[in-house]
Amino acid sequence: VTAIPQRAVVRDFDHHDCPGITTDPFLAFDRYRDRPIFWTPAHGGYWVPTRFDDIRAILRDPVTFSSKCSAIPELGYPRPLIPVELDPPEHGEYRTLLTRSITGPISDSITKAIQRACARLVTHLAPQGACEIVADYAEPIQNVLFTTLFDIPDEHTDTWARWTADLPQHVESQRRRAALRAITDYLADQLARRRARTPPPDTIGLLDMLAHTELGGRPLGDEQMLDAAFLMVLGTVYTLSSTISFSFRHLAQHATEREHLTTHPDLVDTAANELLRLHSVANSVRIATRDTTIADTSIAEGDRLLLCLSLADRDPDTYPNPTALRFDRPPNPGHLAFGYGPHRCLGARIATHALTAALREWHQHIPAYTIRDDTTTIRTGGGSVCSLNALPLTWHDPAL
Ligand code: HEM
Repeated sequence: VTAIPQRAVVRDFDHHDCPGITTDPFLAFDRYRDRPIFWTPAHGGYWVPTRFDDIRAILRDPVTFSSKCSAIPELGYPRPLIPVELDPPEHGEYRTLLTRSITGPISDSITKAIQRACARLVTHLAPQGACEIVADYAEPIQNVLFTTLFDIPDEHTDTWARWTADLPQHVESQRRRAALRAITDYLADQLARRRARTPPPDTIGLLDMLAHTELGGRPLGDEQMLDAAFLMVLGTVYTLSSTISFSFRHLAQHATEREHLTTHPDLVDTAANELLRLHSVANSVRIATRDTTIADTSIAEGDRLLLCLSLADRDPDTYPNPTALRFDRPPNPGHLAFGYGPHRCLGARIATHALTAALREWHQHIPAYTIRDDTTTIRTGGGSVCSLNALPLTWHDPAL
């Protein structure tokens, strides 16, 4: 355990487990905003800056704040995750390579597949009058994104859905470890098969791209391919379904805001952006590479910092009335839900499209709904990515 830094304000805080985290992690974190930065002894000790400006400044300075560790406690993956745990200049090379893998034709295929999936799911759900939105809507949308990006054969998609459901940090550790192993074994096997074959001319999936691309004039090594593919799994499965689920919870609980959206469908992009800001699910980590200062507080070389992005995005000095979904907020500064600077999320465009499509399609057919009062236990979790386990909704089918 690291010694408590001199003159640090110390708070009893753990982003995995603090009061109120099982009902609303964002509100739970909001309660720690009274100081610009504090130290917690949890998990060996780390700093938590709480102001938008400081968090953004840290994200844009990879020289002073390294990405070598991306989670507290560490994920236990044997090598750095590519590209999220790399620093410049190495980071830039991989980032360029991976950017190619999620822009261009694959990006169009994913957005079309998501659009079709949202329409299909809503047509199926609307007449039922009730559903559990995490399992029935958010996770299937995320799985379509994922299986299209990876070009996973249809017969494997159910197995993948099971494995990825076991990945979040709140899942019991033995099940989680088994899922991690199954996923890395599967990826290693698929990458080897794809490398051994000539890629079909219309191939655009990530696995084939990694298997046949070059870096510095040489093919990627087996471990490099696997590490990049595995990070893309983590990047995709943790984040999107949580964001969609929290967004629907907010709209179910705030009828006036929801009605504004349903009567002004052209505002769906604005709503998606605000919902991302309100529920910035990711909590990033940085390590100071030298002694430095944040908000007049001395940070020592080697100290870890947790960048709780929802603390930045709900900072009242940056966003007045921060917990309200407002359709008239100025576009600047943009939110930090996808991070900022050199590591800003590579999937931001696709993820925003997915959330927008999910909202648009749903509200066209199911404009009013409430949270069902039944025996389902709704629980939220913190950690590297905030999550929501279930959200039962009910509505009257407007077509009846
Ligand atoms: C709502 C959904 C998503 C959220 C909130 C989100 C959030 C983030 C954040 C905050 C980072 C920066 C991490 C850091 O600076 O330490 C990040 C990085 C990344 N994300 Fe996402 N993400 C989402 C969806 C996706 C999707 C769908 C993909 C893939 C298609 C993806 C791929 C990546 C990759 C590859 C990185 C690493 C970029 C780098 O290190 O240069 N993300 N994401």
